[in-house]
Amino acid sequence: MKYSALKGARDIFPPDIYIWQKVEETAKGVFSSYGFQEIRAPIIESTDIFIRSIGETTDIVEKEMYTFTDKAGRRITLRPEGTAPVVRCYVENYLYNLPAPQKFFYSGPMFRYERPQAGRFRQFFQIGAEAFGIEEPKIDAEILSMLKLFFVKLGLKDLNFELNSIGCKKCRPDFKKALLNFFSTRIDRFCPDCKRRFILNPLRILDCKVDACISLREGAPRVTDFLCNECREHFDTLLSLLKLLNLSYVINPEMVRGLDYYTRTTFEVKSETLGAQNAVAAGGRYDRLVEDFGGPPTPAIGFAIGMERLTTLLRSLINHTIPSPKVFIATIGSTAEKEGLVIADRLREKDIWVEIGYTGNSLKSQMRRADRLSADYVLIIGDDEINSGKIKWKRLSDGSQGEIPFQEVYDFFK
Ligand code: HAM
Repeated sequence: MKYSALKGARDIFPPDIYIWQKVEETAKGVFSSYGFQEIRAPIIESTDIFIRSIGETTDIVEKEMYTFTDKAGRRITLRPEGTAPVVRCYVENYLYNLPAPQKFFYSGPMFRYERPQAGRFRQFFQIGAEAFGIEEPKIDAEILSMLKLFFVKLGLKDLNFELNSIGCKKCRPDFKKALLNFFSTRIDRFCPDCKRRFILNPLRILDCKVDACISLREGAPRVTDFLCNECREHFDTLLSLLKLLNLSYVINPEMVRGLDYYTRTTFEVKSETLGAQNAVAAGGRYDRLVEDFGGPPTPAIGFAIGMERLTTLLRSLINHTIPSPKVFIATIGSTAEKEGLVIADRLREKDIWVEIGYTGNSLKSQMRRADRLSADYVLIIGDDEINSGKIKWKRLSDGSQGEIPFQEVYDFFK
């Protein structure tokens, strides 16, 4: 019987894992310099949380959630994204009582039952960040420049930042009316999903991925033409701050995002080399979600980075040679073998990576393994060394060698 990972789920192991670790370290470093603190929310949540936030008529909620009933009959969902759980945590733990802004980052697996393809998985990983409590566009600019700095630190300088504003509850009704007007003359030619969306949530028609619907919505009203004065001003100020910070962007008035909770600023960071699934990161404001979850009115903004897409971009950039041990201890004979084991343990206490040879391996095959592992040093211990009280060392990079007394070996590698 041979088992394989589920469709759309991947193992991550060396050497790829080193890219993942590098990304995680970089995120932690950059996000901390902007005052973001780590938050860890559960992977399972009550299903309602996602229906309420992402929206009943979105693809995620309609088609992609891994939902099940637990033994007590509760409806539970494997999180398809990280914002709703963070908002639930923020409200449940009264974090709004702390001084604003409260800024958090998180990382971990998300689950969506999508059709797997390059860059699209059913279990995928995100690193995300969310900032609560500030309405000013200054924090939108900070969030975007934090994202840019993160990518630049990883060596990615040519990603495209696409921005839009999708308004607020004040400007939405007029936009919705214009959409209904536009679609009413042609809705019979749209896919069955869009026909339903027309009744329930016409904005979602703008996010349909069906080719026919994409061409049918050409010329549809654009949300940016319906922004109220406050939203327009927010957006314009943000754009001027981005200029100040030297962050280049393009405005994409057609970007609506696939989740219902967004208000005002939305953005996606895209790469030209990724193919169809080209968004490496995406996010925006969700100024009403905290209130929807039972908290006080609290503006908020955040984003999530797709780890699989990002690591694909980085594979050719980051030198991911497998790290190598500092010391390899090769031994001949059972007394030396025991001595070697003790020395290895002591060196490891000093955080030195040590590999040892195993029983039955000749010195030659142990040396070959040391070479394959690219160890910096080999220590050789046999009967002669035990009798003379000195260990032979060899540096593999230049072949230099010498001897050191047993008790000095710990200082030698300091
Ligand atoms: P999202 O656009 O659904 O937004 O996902 C963000 C990123 O996750 C995408 O740009 C993509 O890189 C990655 N991603 C999404 N689905 C998949 C998949 N099936 N396979 C691989 N990668 C994927 C959100 O999730 C929001 N929570 C972002 C946010 C945070 N907005 C505000 N705060």
